Amino acid sequence: MSRIPAVEPIPPGIVSLEDHAAHAHARLDDNAWSYFSGGAADEITMRANRSAWDGISLSTRVLRNLVGGHTRVELLGRTLAHPILLAPVAFQRMAHPDGENATAFAAAMQGAGMVLSTQATILLEDAARIVLNEPGRGPLWFQLYLQHERGFTRELVRRAEEAGYEALVVTVDAPSSGARDKERRAGFRLPPGIAAVNLAGMPPAQPIELHAHQSRMFDALLTTAPTWDDIEWLKGITRLPVILKGIMHEEDARLAIESGASGIIVSNHGGRTLDTMPATAAVLPRIRAAVGEALPVLVDGGIRRGTDVLKAVALGADAVLIGRPYLFGLVNAGAMGVSHVIRLLRDELEIAMALCGCATLADVDAKVLFK
Ligand code: GLV
Repeated sequence: MSRIPAVEPIPPGIVSLEDHAAHAHARLDDNAWSYFSGGAADEITMRANRSAWDGISLSTRVLRNLVGGHTRVELLGRTLAHPILLAPVAFQRMAHPDGENATAFAAAMQGAGMVLSTQATILLEDAARIVLNEPGRGPLWFQLYLQHERGFTRELVRRAEEAGYEALVVTVDAPSSGARDKERRAGFRLPPGIAAVNLAGMPPAQPIELHAHQSRMFDALLTTAPTWDDIEWLKGITRLPVILKGIMHEEDARLAIESGASGIIVSNHGGRTLDTMPATAAVLPRIRAAVGEALPVLVDGGIRRGTDVLKAVALGADAVLIGRPYLFGLVNAGAMGVSHVIRLLRDELEIAMALCGCATLADVDAKVLFK
């Protein structure tokens, strides 16, 4: 059953996304904090995502007439009020009892795009019902982990189509989880009652018996991991546009075009998969150069300020996604917290645009970057 989440006040003193993170840290137990905040191994990539945006300086312009400016952007045939989308984050009822219900509601109220995780803790149909009725809502996308069972994956896709999702975001960068040291130290486990409810009833993968000289990675796990053939298969069974999330190499970007993908998300999974991957801000311009205007390119990873959003657009992104920041807003004040995070970021983006002399995002290009 979908329900409208309760209104909760924003705790006093929170004026930025990092304030939300600090406040959420104090509220979450070690188990949930390790899952939501952690990156892979030494968290070098996770930190690099942040410091790459910080390391870019902006060039301001003065005395321009910017009346009538706006943050609107065209994406996959729709006009979005602003270029901020909520990235898929799993198990959100571990952050707040309203979980993805609250996130979906806040996204719709703020005109933000919402990407529901395959590992959501509410039914995908319920999240859709909350979002689809809001007139000012942003796009509603379903994040798909291709499952080992094609029949089950096909059924998941059919459900997403029927529920009204407008695109499938296929996460392609995590055939294996990263070495999540923070989670392992905390002994992370899902609390009772928290589950990936949309995967209920999936037949378990056939256990593979390994001989001593065989590898658990190459001879077991990767035998069912998706490949480019599965993207082709997916294209064949759905009418929805397919967006590939986790593209970090120019050659993969070109293969994405060949595969018929409708968009690319430059992402290193928030630094949660392979540590020492480069920051997404460093990779984004290369991916944009590789695909030209053939595809929309989105980016996530370390975006915490409106200035980061502006820099991402200047480096070639059509739009950005945030993950942990809205999750921490959810921890702090449910739907109101998520809403607050989106609004803070959008307000900061408008300040950055105004002070860089850009009335629209179409005016934002490499000229705003101080070289
Ligand atoms: C799932 O995608 C995760 O990063 O935990």
